[in-house]
Amino acid sequence: MSSDFQRYTVTAALPYANGPVHIGHLAGVYLPADIYVRYLRSAGRDVKFICGSDEHGVPITIRAQKEGVTPQQVVDKYHALIRDSFLDFGVSFDIYSRTSSATHREVSSGFFRKLYEEGKFIEQTSQQYYDEQANQFLADRYIVGTCPNCGNENAYGDQCERCGTSLSPTELINPRSMLSGNNPVLRETKHWYLPLDQYEPWLREWIVEGHKNDWKANVYGQCKSWIDQGLHPRAVTRDLDWGVPVPVEGAEGKVLYVWFDAPIGYISATKDLLPDTWETYWKDSGSKLVHFIGKDNIVFHCIIFPAMLKAHGDYILPDNVPANEFLNLEGDKISTSRNWAVWLHEYLQDFPGRADVLRYVLCANAPENKDNDFTWKDFQARNNNELLATLGNFVNRAVVLTHKYFGGQIPARNELTEFDQEVLQQLADFPARIGQLIENYRFRDALNELMNLARLGNKYLADTEPWKLIKTDEARVGTILNIGLQITASLTTLMEPFLPSTAARLGSMLNTEKAPGPLLATPMLCLSDIN
Ligand code: 2FM
Ligand code: ZN
Repeated sequence: MSSDFQRYTVTAALPYANGPVHIGHLAGVYLPADIYVRYLRSAGRDVKFICGSDEHGVPITIRAQKEGVTPQQVVDKYHALIRDSFLDFGVSFDIYSRTSSATHREVSSGFFRKLYEEGKFIEQTSQQYYDEQANQFLADRYIVGTCPNCGNENAYGDQCERCGTSLSPTELINPRSMLSGNNPVLRETKHWYLPLDQYEPWLREWIVEGHKNDWKANVYGQCKSWIDQGLHPRAVTRDLDWGVPVPVEGAEGKVLYVWFDAPIGYISATKDLLPDTWETYWKDSGSKLVHFIGKDNIVFHCIIFPAMLKAHGDYILPDNVPANEFLNLEGDKISTSRNWAVWLHEYLQDFPGRADVLRYVLCANAPENKDNDFTWKDFQARNNNELLATLGNFVNRAVVLTHKYFGGQIPARNELTEFDQEVLQQLADFPARIGQLIENYRFRDALNELMNLARLGNKYLADTEPWKLIKTDEARVGTILNIGLQITASLTTLMEPFLPSTAARLGSMLNTEKAPGPLLATPMLCLSDIN
């Protein structure tokens, strides 16, 4: 249970610094992670929110090659673009680091060397594909071919993106080099492997037995099916000149496999953030580690990285990996190559100051348990019918009527009717209910509860009709608006994880900083001015 933990280490998948971030990334990973972290902070918990750019791997070198620039130029450009757009979107990372940093090189090399020295790897010479025209070994992503599982003709050498199966290049039917287009030939090369098969009994116990009830069904199901299919040793080094050099003798021209170094990036980013205390967040069993990722990353975060951590021995394991499914756009799969996406940096340019609208729509429609669809029609409808007509309308009425009838002073609460008491009781139940849903990674339901509170506020004003009573019973109107403002204050606090800039605007309008309260309590407004 969450209350057993003293602190939280929350990570969001490190985006490849080879292109901008789109709404699929936001809905799948960064928005739920940010809501979770903002909630934890507002409840007074000790939490560190870790992210950064994934700057190694073949997608980067492929992009550099296409653009005729160096890999470093590619990552410099996209690291800044992604970092800034996350910031504008209100994603509240404690650090946004990068895997090309010196700290990361040191931490990931040290991790590899420890496993190497303790004999945790298998050294194996194997036949790997080589492009005789380009004169180099081909990384998995430089090879495409037909997926033996689903027949997709453009599966990559490490994974089929259509069916999600993890592959090795020699499993591909009719492999082709992406460098020259030729069929590659097999040549001998030596690599280091993590013997995942040795971790199979432990993984079965830890996940299949241990996390049956607390991991999401989509995550658990994928892990179980992987384990049931049988695990095999997995190479953790590559013949490539872009990445963290393999820190042992006889490994010239080889680097760590990007999926070996990238998750270690969470650790090095924490070290960059907290040079003296980072270990507490990674080694103390009182720390709860939660990885937010998309579904294509499940195997790496639930099987391979935990096996690496287990092999290392000093680190805690993830308590949960609440991966989401995919978001489609207007009925079609989001695709970078077809430029079918809503890019975050473009949205922020086109809708300045409207990050919260996108946050709202993406959370309301998040692909939590199944793939979901984003449409502009739905965006418009949710903005108009939910954000404006429900939430905005209620808050506006409570504040405007207070100005009109009480000159912006919060009126005193007088005698309460049964209806008032019932509404106040309902109000008191919302914070715990919303908090519980967030702690269980049910962000859509939590947001819906937030809107239910706004609906309660609208119903309260509609039923009590203060605008009719003002001529005859000012004291009663004072009570009604006092209660209306309590609901508004509660909404302001509870909406912060979802709609942070709206919450800040409302907070300063209501002077709630004079009456701060943790999310789990209903904040009480003091008698004071409304700005
Ligand atoms: O799928 C991706 O975009 C990867 N760059 C995610 C890496 S997550 C972590 F391991 F760093
Ligand atoms: Zn496939």
